[in-house]
Amino acid sequence: MKKFVVSTDSPYEIIIGEDIIKNVGTYIRQCIPPCRLCIITDSTVNRAYAQVVMTSLIEAGYQTSKIVFPAGEHSKNLTTYSNILESMADEGLTRSDAVIALGGGVVGDMAGFVAATYMRGISYVQLPTTYMSAIDASVGGKTGINLLCGKNLAGAFWQPSLVVCDYKTFDSLPDVKRLDGVAEAVKCAVISEASLIPKIQAWDYEYVIERCVSIKKSVVEADERDTGLRQLLNFGHTVGHGIEKLSAFSVSHGQAVAKGLIVESRAAYKMGLTEADIAAELSSLLNGLGFDLSIPYSADELYRYALMDKKISGDKISMVIPESIGKCRLQKISLSELRQFVELGLSED
Ligand code: GLY
Repeated sequence: MKKFVVSTDSPYEIIIGEDIIKNVGTYIRQCIPPCRLCIITDSTVNRAYAQVVMTSLIEAGYQTSKIVFPAGEHSKNLTTYSNILESMADEGLTRSDAVIALGGGVVGDMAGFVAATYMRGISYVQLPTTYMSAIDASVGGKTGINLLCGKNLAGAFWQPSLVVCDYKTFDSLPDVKRLDGVAEAVKCAVISEASLIPKIQAWDYEYVIERCVSIKKSVVEADERDTGLRQLLNFGHTVGHGIEKLSAFSVSHGQAVAKGLIVESRAAYKMGLTEADIAAELSSLLNGLGFDLSIPYSADELYRYALMDKKISGDKISMVIPESIGKCRLQKISLSELRQFVELGLSED
């Protein structure tokens, strides 16, 4: 078992291990006194892990309740959010109670945002059950929901009190969900640590999660509010979020980010923003890992969507520019250059 402390304004621990979900109540007792814990989860994870978590929480002296919403990105909306808040108020949960986010990225974002806003903010614990959430979404306190106009457009920075990651839960994941995590791990390798790549290819969960969490911890500690350095973690997402949205979420987050990594790398090179021409190498890596890298959307469609990106400030957007596999920097480009950026990134000529 490995532990990290994330030293944000309110510091918290991340515990990573195999087959540890059954002990989660004991870990939570180190940071949250006995109270009511409201487990928020989705219909898939509910069937697999809610009972073991609830049993552990009760054994540790907590009262529990549970709110389940339909699995999938489609549920990450205002209606689900408001239904959950109303249920919590109906149950009489107070400010000294807490939320348990049990599931993948959608559950973590939703439950975190509920915790950030219920009675102006209560504690929550992240229990990621997907590779993607373990590597990325459960760490760093970004919470939120989608609006009709785009992904994660309403949200809050709200750090959890604890993250407990049991990578044995990935055994039950379908391949597409495993690949979501792989895309985020490849992103981490490209921005910061090329030596991760063979470990990603070897499906070494323990090593990859520990390194990605350690990288994310350093970035979040330096820029908790995402005003600079943290935007590196958004590599591939300007285009990736557009693909997800344009596909009505039939393309998963990780699949979309993988495509976005290629488009943004190719564009950076073709625009003359870097001498590193890494798109072909990345394509062959991602193909080999099982990704479909086709993109059936036009530059105009993706550009329109990119105009909702949260890295825009005034008439400029910060883009992540690879200098090599393992090193990236941020560079602002104008929104008119962004149109050309997307077009060049899509064209394989
Ligand atoms: N998922 C990117 C971040 O937390 O900043």
